[in-house]
Amino acid sequence: MDRLAGMLKKVNQLDPVPVVIHKVLSLADDPEASLKDLVEVVERDPAITANLLKTVNSAYMGLPVKVDSVHQAVSMLGLQKVVEMVLSQNLSGNLNRPQKGYGLAKGDLWRQSLAVAMVARSLARQQDLMGLPAIYTAALLKDIGKVILHEFVADQVEAIQELVTEKGMSFVEAENDVLGMDHTTLGGIIAKQWQFSPHMIYMIENHHLTNQASRNDPATATLYLADMIAMMVDTGIGVDRLAYHVYQDVFNDFFPDKQQVKALMITYKSFQREIREFMEAV
Ligand SMILES: [Fe+2]
Repeated sequence: MDRLAGMLKKVNQLDPVPVVIHKVLSLADDPEASLKDLVEVVERDPAITANLLKTVNSAYMGLPVKVDSVHQAVSMLGLQKVVEMVLSQNLSGNLNRPQKGYGLAKGDLWRQSLAVAMVARSLARQQDLMGLPAIYTAALLKDIGKVILHEFVADQVEAIQELVTEKGMSFVEAENDVLGMDHTTLGGIIAKQWQFSPHMIYMIENHHLTNQASRNDPATATLYLADMIAMMVDTGIGVDRLAYHVYQDVFNDFFPDKQQVKALMITYKSFQREIREFMEAV
Protein backbone atom coordinates (compact mmCIF):
# COMPACT_ATOMS: atom_id res chain seq x y z
CA MET A 1 0.00 0.00 0.00
CA ASP A 2 1.42 3.37 -0.85
CA ARG A 3 1.98 5.95 1.84
CA LEU A 4 -1.03 8.12 1.03
CA ALA A 5 -3.43 5.16 0.95
CA GLY A 6 -2.00 4.09 4.32
CA MET A 7 -2.74 7.51 5.80
CA LEU A 8 -6.27 7.60 4.43
CA LYS A 9 -7.00 4.14 5.78
CA LYS A 10 -6.07 5.36 9.25
CA VAL A 11 -8.62 8.19 9.02
CA ASN A 12 -11.38 5.58 9.31
CA GLN A 13 -9.75 4.08 12.39
CA LEU A 14 -9.96 7.26 14.48
CA ASP A 15 -12.51 7.51 17.30
CA PRO A 16 -15.62 9.05 15.72
CA VAL A 17 -16.93 12.44 16.81
CA PRO A 18 -20.15 12.13 18.85
CA VAL A 19 -23.23 13.43 17.02
CA VAL A 20 -23.97 15.77 19.91
CA ILE A 21 -20.88 17.84 19.00
CA HIS A 22 -22.32 18.67 15.58
CA LYS A 23 -25.69 19.47 17.09
CA VAL A 24 -24.19 21.74 19.75
CA LEU A 25 -22.12 23.58 17.13
CA SER A 26 -25.02 24.12 14.78
CA LEU A 27 -27.32 25.32 17.58
CA ALA A 28 -24.63 27.62 18.96
CA ASP A 29 -24.40 29.13 15.49
CA ASP A 30 -28.14 29.53 15.01
CA PRO A 31 -29.59 32.86 16.20
CA GLU A 32 -33.07 31.30 16.25
CA ALA A 33 -32.05 28.51 18.61
CA SER A 34 -32.89 28.87 22.28
CA LEU A 35 -30.96 27.93 25.36
CA LYS A 36 -33.57 25.26 25.96
CA ASP A 37 -32.81 23.63 22.56
CA LEU A 38 -29.14 23.42 23.47
CA VAL A 39 -29.74 22.01 26.92
CA GLU A 40 -32.10 19.39 25.45
CA VAL A 41 -29.57 18.24 22.87
CA VAL A 42 -27.00 17.55 25.57
CA GLU A 43 -29.52 15.99 27.95
CA ARG A 44 -30.68 13.55 25.29
CA ASP A 45 -27.26 11.90 25.49
CA PRO A 46 -27.00 10.25 28.93
CA ALA A 47 -23.28 9.37 28.70
CA ILE A 48 -22.29 12.91 27.74
CA THR A 49 -24.56 14.41 30.39
CA ALA A 50 -23.17 12.11 33.09
CA ASN A 51 -19.62 13.01 32.14
CA LEU A 52 -20.43 16.72 32.18
CA LEU A 53 -22.14 16.58 35.57
CA LYS A 54 -19.28 14.58 37.06
CA THR A 55 -16.88 17.37 36.17
CA VAL A 56 -19.26 20.13 37.21
CA ASN A 57 -19.62 18.48 40.62
CA SER A 58 -15.91 17.83 41.06
CA ALA A 59 -14.06 19.38 43.97
CA TYR A 60 -12.09 21.45 41.45
CA MET A 61 -15.17 23.41 40.37
CA GLY A 62 -15.99 24.10 44.02
CA LEU A 63 -19.69 24.76 43.45
CA PRO A 64 -21.69 25.26 46.65
CA VAL A 65 -24.54 22.94 45.63
CA LYS A 66 -24.84 19.61 43.88
CA VAL A 67 -25.73 20.14 40.21
CA ASP A 68 -27.95 17.45 38.77
CA SER A 69 -29.12 18.76 35.42
CA VAL A 70 -27.57 20.39 32.37
CA HIS A 71 -29.98 23.28 32.82
CA GLN A 72 -28.71 23.87 36.35
CA ALA A 73 -25.09 23.62 35.14
CA VAL A 74 -25.81 26.35 32.58
CA SER A 75 -27.38 28.62 35.17
CA MET A 76 -24.44 28.14 37.56
CA LEU A 77 -21.56 28.33 35.08
CA GLY A 78 -22.97 30.11 32.05
CA LEU A 79 -23.72 28.70 28.62
CA GLN A 80 -20.30 29.38 27.11
CA LYS A 81 -18.48 27.43 29.81
CA VAL A 82 -20.84 24.46 29.59
CA VAL A 83 -20.59 24.34 25.79
CA GLU A 84 -16.78 24.41 26.03
CA MET A 85 -16.84 21.62 28.61
CA VAL A 86 -19.00 19.44 26.36
CA LEU A 87 -16.75 20.14 23.36
CA SER A 88 -13.49 19.46 25.16
CA GLN A 89 -14.69 16.37 27.01
CA ASN A 90 -15.83 14.75 23.80
CA LEU A 91 -13.00 15.62 21.44
CA SER A 92 -10.06 14.50 23.55
CA GLY A 93 -9.93 10.79 22.60
CA ASN A 94 -7.75 10.97 19.50
CA LEU A 95 -5.60 13.87 20.65
CA ASN A 96 -4.72 12.59 24.10
CA ARG A 97 -2.17 10.06 22.80
CA PRO A 98 1.57 10.27 22.31
CA GLN A 99 2.60 11.69 18.90
CA LYS A 100 6.01 10.13 18.56
CA GLY A 101 7.10 11.77 15.32
CA TYR A 102 6.45 15.23 16.74
CA GLY A 103 8.23 14.51 20.01
CA LEU A 104 4.99 14.79 21.98
CA ALA A 105 4.35 12.60 25.03
CA LYS A 106 0.88 11.40 25.98
CA GLY A 107 -1.25 14.40 26.89
CA ASP A 108 1.10 17.05 25.43
CA LEU A 109 -0.91 17.72 22.27
CA TRP A 110 -4.19 17.69 24.16
CA ARG A 111 -3.10 20.06 26.90
CA GLN A 112 -1.59 22.42 24.33
CA SER A 113 -4.70 22.29 22.15
CA LEU A 114 -6.88 23.14 25.14
CA ALA A 115 -4.79 26.17 26.07
CA VAL A 116 -4.69 27.34 22.43
CA ALA A 117 -8.49 26.97 22.28
CA MET A 118 -8.86 29.16 25.37
CA VAL A 119 -6.56 31.84 23.92
CA ALA A 120 -8.31 31.68 20.54
CA ARG A 121 -11.68 32.13 22.23
CA SER A 122 -10.45 35.14 24.25
CA LEU A 123 -8.90 36.71 21.18
CA ALA A 124 -12.05 36.10 19.12
CA ARG A 125 -14.18 37.60 21.87
CA GLN A 126 -12.01 40.71 22.03
CA GLN A 127 -12.62 41.25 18.34
CA ASP A 128 -16.33 40.53 18.55
CA LEU A 129 -15.98 37.57 16.22
CA MET A 130 -19.03 35.38 15.92
CA GLY A 131 -19.04 31.61 16.31
CA LEU A 132 -16.91 31.30 19.44
CA PRO A 133 -17.72 27.59 19.93
CA ALA A 134 -16.64 26.92 16.34
CA ILE A 135 -13.34 28.77 16.80
CA TYR A 136 -12.79 26.94 20.09
CA THR A 137 -13.44 23.60 18.36
CA ALA A 138 -11.20 24.46 15.41
CA ALA A 139 -8.42 25.25 17.89
CA LEU A 140 -8.92 21.92 19.63
CA LEU A 141 -8.84 20.04 16.34
CA LYS A 142 -6.35 22.07 14.29
CA ASP A 143 -3.56 19.51 14.72
CA ILE A 144 -5.74 16.42 14.38
CA GLY A 145 -3.76 15.53 11.24
CA LYS A 146 -0.71 14.95 13.48
CA VAL A 147 -2.53 12.05 15.13
CA ILE A 148 -2.06 10.09 11.91
CA LEU A 149 0.91 11.84 10.35
CA HIS A 150 3.18 11.43 13.37
CA GLU A 151 4.04 7.82 12.48
CA PHE A 152 5.12 8.90 9.01
CA VAL A 153 6.96 11.96 10.31
CA ALA A 154 8.86 9.69 12.75
CA ASP A 155 10.49 7.82 9.84
CA GLN A 156 11.49 11.01 8.02
CA VAL A 157 12.01 13.57 10.74
CA GLU A 158 15.64 14.21 9.82
CA ALA A 159 14.81 14.86 6.16
CA ILE A 160 11.97 17.19 7.23
CA GLN A 161 14.13 19.09 9.68
CA GLU A 162 16.88 19.43 7.10
CA LEU A 163 14.48 21.23 4.76
CA VAL A 164 13.45 23.51 7.62
CA THR A 165 17.01 24.46 8.54
CA GLU A 166 18.68 24.32 5.10
CA LYS A 167 15.92 25.64 2.85
CA GLY A 168 13.99 27.82 5.29
CA MET A 169 10.78 25.87 4.75
CA SER A 170 8.13 25.83 7.45
CA PHE A 171 7.53 22.44 9.07
CA VAL A 172 4.25 22.08 7.20
CA GLU A 173 5.89 22.77 3.82
CA ALA A 174 8.65 20.30 4.61
CA GLU A 175 6.13 17.62 5.60
CA ASN A 176 4.52 18.07 2.23
CA ASP A 177 7.79 17.95 0.37
CA VAL A 178 9.02 14.79 2.07
CA LEU A 179 5.78 12.88 2.70
CA GLY A 180 3.50 14.23 -0.03
CA MET A 181 1.08 15.22 2.75
CA ASP A 182 1.08 17.63 5.67
CA HIS A 183 -0.82 17.77 8.94
CA THR A 184 -3.05 20.68 7.85
CA THR A 185 -4.28 18.99 4.66
CA LEU A 186 -4.74 15.69 6.45
CA GLY A 187 -6.59 17.54 9.24
CA GLY A 188 -8.95 18.94 6.58
CA ILE A 189 -9.54 15.43 5.20
CA ILE A 190 -10.36 14.16 8.70
CA ALA A 191 -12.69 17.10 9.43
CA LYS A 192 -14.47 16.47 6.13
CA GLN A 193 -14.83 12.78 6.90
CA TRP A 194 -16.32 13.76 10.26
CA GLN A 195 -18.78 16.02 8.43
CA PHE A 196 -17.77 19.30 10.00
CA SER A 197 -18.89 22.56 8.35
CA PRO A 198 -16.94 23.95 5.37
CA HIS A 199 -15.63 26.81 7.55
CA MET A 200 -14.39 24.38 10.21
CA ILE A 201 -12.58 22.39 7.53
CA TYR A 202 -11.14 25.64 6.13
CA MET A 203 -9.86 26.80 9.53
CA ILE A 204 -8.13 23.47 10.18
CA GLU A 205 -6.63 23.31 6.68
CA ASN A 206 -5.31 26.84 6.94
CA HIS A 207 -4.27 27.19 10.57
CA HIS A 208 -0.66 27.89 9.55
CA LEU A 209 -1.87 30.47 6.96
CA THR A 210 0.11 28.79 4.17
CA ASN A 211 -2.59 29.88 1.75
CA GLN A 212 -2.34 33.66 1.45
CA ALA A 213 -6.11 34.22 1.15
CA SER A 214 -6.69 32.62 4.54
CA ARG A 215 -4.86 35.51 6.22
CA ASN A 216 -7.95 37.63 5.47
CA ASP A 217 -10.30 35.30 7.32
CA PRO A 218 -10.39 36.72 10.87
CA ALA A 219 -11.28 33.40 12.52
CA THR A 220 -8.45 31.52 10.79
CA ALA A 221 -5.98 34.32 11.54
CA THR A 222 -7.11 34.17 15.20
CA LEU A 223 -6.37 30.46 15.27
CA TYR A 224 -2.94 31.02 13.78
CA LEU A 225 -2.07 33.73 16.30
CA ALA A 226 -3.24 31.66 19.27
CA ASP A 227 -1.11 28.76 18.01
CA MET A 228 1.93 31.01 17.54
CA ILE A 229 1.50 32.40 21.06
CA ALA A 230 1.50 28.79 22.34
CA MET A 231 4.72 28.04 20.46
CA MET A 232 6.35 31.19 21.81
CA VAL A 233 5.57 30.06 25.36
CA ASP A 234 6.01 26.28 24.98
CA THR A 235 9.46 26.50 23.51
CA GLY A 236 10.40 23.01 24.71
CA ILE A 237 7.42 21.07 23.37
CA GLY A 238 7.44 19.26 20.02
CA VAL A 239 9.98 18.95 17.20
CA ASP A 240 8.16 21.51 15.06
CA ARG A 241 8.17 24.33 17.59
CA LEU A 242 8.61 27.70 15.90
CA ALA A 243 9.35 25.98 12.59
CA TYR A 244 6.48 27.94 11.04
CA HIS A 245 6.49 31.24 9.21
CA VAL A 246 5.80 34.34 11.24
CA TYR A 247 3.52 36.60 9.21
CA GLN A 248 4.39 39.95 10.72
CA ASP A 249 1.55 41.73 8.90
CA VAL A 250 -1.00 39.44 10.56
CA PHE A 251 0.58 40.14 13.97
CA ASN A 252 0.55 43.88 13.25
CA ASP A 253 -3.09 43.84 12.18
CA PHE A 254 -4.17 42.15 15.38
CA PHE A 255 -1.69 43.66 17.79
CA PRO A 256 -0.76 47.24 16.87
CA ASP A 257 0.85 47.38 20.30
CA LYS A 258 3.59 44.77 20.96
CA GLN A 259 2.62 44.70 24.64
CA GLN A 260 -0.57 42.91 23.60
CA VAL A 261 1.47 39.90 22.46
CA LYS A 262 3.23 39.80 25.81
CA ALA A 263 -0.09 40.07 27.63
CA LEU A 264 -1.48 37.18 25.60
CA MET A 265 1.57 35.05 26.41
CA ILE A 266 0.88 35.65 30.09
CA THR A 267 -2.78 34.77 29.56
CA TYR A 268 -1.68 31.57 27.81
CA LYS A 269 0.46 30.63 30.81
CA SER A 270 -2.43 31.21 33.19
CA PHE A 271 -4.66 29.00 31.04
CA GLN A 272 -1.97 26.31 31.10
CA ARG A 273 -1.89 26.47 34.87
CA GLU A 274 -5.67 26.25 35.00
CA ILE A 275 -5.64 23.17 32.75
CA ARG A 276 -2.90 21.47 34.76
CA GLU A 277 -4.70 22.07 38.06
CA PHE A 278 -7.96 20.91 36.53
CA MET A 279 -6.44 17.69 35.18
CA GLU A 280 -4.76 16.89 38.46
CA ALA A 281 -7.99 17.43 40.36
CA VAL A 282 -10.52 15.66 38.13
FE1 LIG B 1 -0.33 22.80 13.21
